[in-house]
Amino acid sequence: MSARILDGKALSETIRDEIKSEVMLLKEKHGIVPGLAAILAGDNPASRIYVSKKAEACDQAGLHSETLTLPASTNQVELLDHIHRLNSDSRIHGILVQLPLPDHINENELLLSVSPEKDVDGFHPVNVGRMVIGKEKSFLPCTPLGIQTLLVRNGVETSGKHVVVIGRSNIVGKPMAIMMMQKAAGADATVTVCHSRTRNIADVIRLGDIVIAAMGKAQFVKADMIKPGAVVIDVGMNRIPDATKKSGTRLCGDVDYDAVKEVAGAITPVPGGVGPMTIAMLLSNTLKSAKNSL
Ligand code: GUN
Repeated sequence: MSARILDGKALSETIRDEIKSEVMLLKEKHGIVPGLAAILAGDNPASRIYVSKKAEACDQAGLHSETLTLPASTNQVELLDHIHRLNSDSRIHGILVQLPLPDHINENELLLSVSPEKDVDGFHPVNVGRMVIGKEKSFLPCTPLGIQTLLVRNGVETSGKHVVVIGRSNIVGKPMAIMMMQKAAGADATVTVCHSRTRNIADVIRLGDIVIAAMGKAQFVKADMIKPGAVVIDVGMNRIPDATKKSGTRLCGDVDYDAVKEVAGAITPVPGGVGPMTIAMLLSNTLKSAKNSL
């Protein structure tokens, strides 16, 4: 039997409508419009698309948004100056530094310079620490938060379940594992993290009641790695050759979707699964930051 499709696009639209209503209320009651500033340094084509999608989503939901598009030659001091200015700009409640940054930039120093109270990506060590401790005040990183929200709002039980996270990045794998192990609603799971050095990785993945694939390898997760009925979340965004497309390529995830959907109980598509949820969570975190500023 074919798996239930977890439609991130549809859910993200519902959430963005909810945010739009809250943004209107905040403006009426307190005269505040939540504002997001995105910094895009360099000419990574995927980053350009992500940032323009984020700005478009802000416009639709009534948030103020600014995008700083800077050349790849921008130096560390110039980037730090922009961040310091945005930290003290009262119209801006969220600051996002799009990753990856050009090679000559010290990413850690930049992420540290963003005020933790405006760090809507949840990348500042203060927010990472708050997340690990399980403090409500933290901004949770948008992709793991989007996945958790997708599970909860689709009624997927996580308590006591075995969640297998594939990939150990700071943006997805590590925070996802921490969030799912918390003593909290939408969590309370037993978590295993596997990665490129994991032995017998197929056997480990097969233990998962919920499998979250986030290692950036096109169609790595095959049908025989999935326990029948498991929930499969695909974070991958890979371009692969496809002669039937005008561009000669198509997007695909880290999961061999057509085969895995015949084994899984539920699955996210690519595109239309995790990606739109990430953007909705960015708006949600910016709204949260604006409310915190009251
Ligand atoms: N690059 C890939 N994913 C993300 C994200 O969630 N936030 C930022 N700032 N950069 C990214």
